[in-house]
Amino acid sequence: MLVQPNLGTLLVNSPIEQRKAEHLKLCIQSDVSHQEVTTGFEKYRFRHCALPELDFAEIDLRVEFLGWRLAAPLLISSMTGGTPQAGEINRRLARVAQQKKIVMGVGSQRVLLEHPEVATTFAIRREAPTIPLLANLGAVQLNYGCGVSECQKIIDLLEANALILHLNPLQEAVQTGGDRNFKGLLTKIGVLCRSLPVPVIVKEVGNGISADVAKQLVDVGVAAIDVAGAGGTSWAKVEAARAQDARQQFLGDTFAEWGIPTARCLEQIHTALPDTPLIASGGLKNGIDVAKALALGAGLAGLARPLLQAAHQSEEALAQRIDFILEELKTVLFCTGSATPQALYQRRCLERI
Ligand SMILES: Cc1cc2nc3c(=O)[nH]c(=O)nc-3n(C[C@H](O)[C@H](O)[C@H](O)COP(=O)(O)O)c2cc1C
Repeated sequence: MLVQPNLGTLLVNSPIEQRKAEHLKLCIQSDVSHQEVTTGFEKYRFRHCALPELDFAEIDLRVEFLGWRLAAPLLISSMTGGTPQAGEINRRLARVAQQKKIVMGVGSQRVLLEHPEVATTFAIRREAPTIPLLANLGAVQLNYGCGVSECQKIIDLLEANALILHLNPLQEAVQTGGDRNFKGLLTKIGVLCRSLPVPVIVKEVGNGISADVAKQLVDVGVAAIDVAGAGGTSWAKVEAARAQDARQQFLGDTFAEWGIPTARCLEQIHTALPDTPLIASGGLKNGIDVAKALALGAGLAGLARPLLQAAHQSEEALAQRIDFILEELKTVLFCTGSATPQALYQRRCLERI
């Protein structure tokens, strides 16, 4: 029986570690999802196929993404690291990701550039020796002292297969003392894409990426886009809930529903950039959402908060949650007559209602 990471006492040292501990606690315990804005997946239904001509047992979820061979098109989205509780959650996520042969991202590694002593909370390669692991840094940090060598350092520490840069202008704007100089980032992202030995992926954190921004990113060399759209975790809400001053609370509340719904991001980016590898995330709850994302052109589907909540419960709860998602995905494939995840897209069996 694994002990649940203690969220009650926030035994952390620096403001950045304190912030991470609060984020974790709120995302596990409070309702910080978008309410009015939805992912948009509910506007789609699969056309049921009463005669699939398939053996369920032969349905194959294996996919390739950025050259990685995976047992299923699933990603545990970037979340945490930097505190003892976060370290335990990361190890649970890593062990289950390895068991299921799916991809895992860690949370922003900026904290370990300032506090190298927290490196062990991100050191999960031993738990997950053969799966793709994704390093993570806020793109805005490229304007606050991080460059190619810092990115190389966090990649090396994780033994990562790719670097994710996250874009979070709303969160930084809402957060008192947030890093708000987003000028000149595109050029710096391009330099990273040309200098680093691993692919660079860019994601949002729950407010979505539009087709024009995606195109700019791809033009400077970004290998894949994770839309991280609206309809799931709302970072404005999280920041409102932990606000220590009226300004952060007001802004967080006002912008709680801001963002481009996940399904719309996918439709628009896939239409504009049909050959760009896409990751769908932001508000996905189950295997039907995953299937809809794949049918709209995503190559991988990512979940964050639902998997964090399961991982907080126990490693077994997390493994079961992922098993159910994969079983739901297989059921969609079966009931649409699709033998593989790629067939979901090729058969055009998703209809707008
Ligand atoms: C506790 C927590 C911490 C997060 N920290 C990061 C982070 O450090 N870097 C990042 O790119 N995204 C971070 N995210 C955002 C997620 O990767 C994801 O984009 C977002 O939560 C939307 O997905 P969801 O609706 O499935 O939660 C975090 C999410 C959660 C729940």
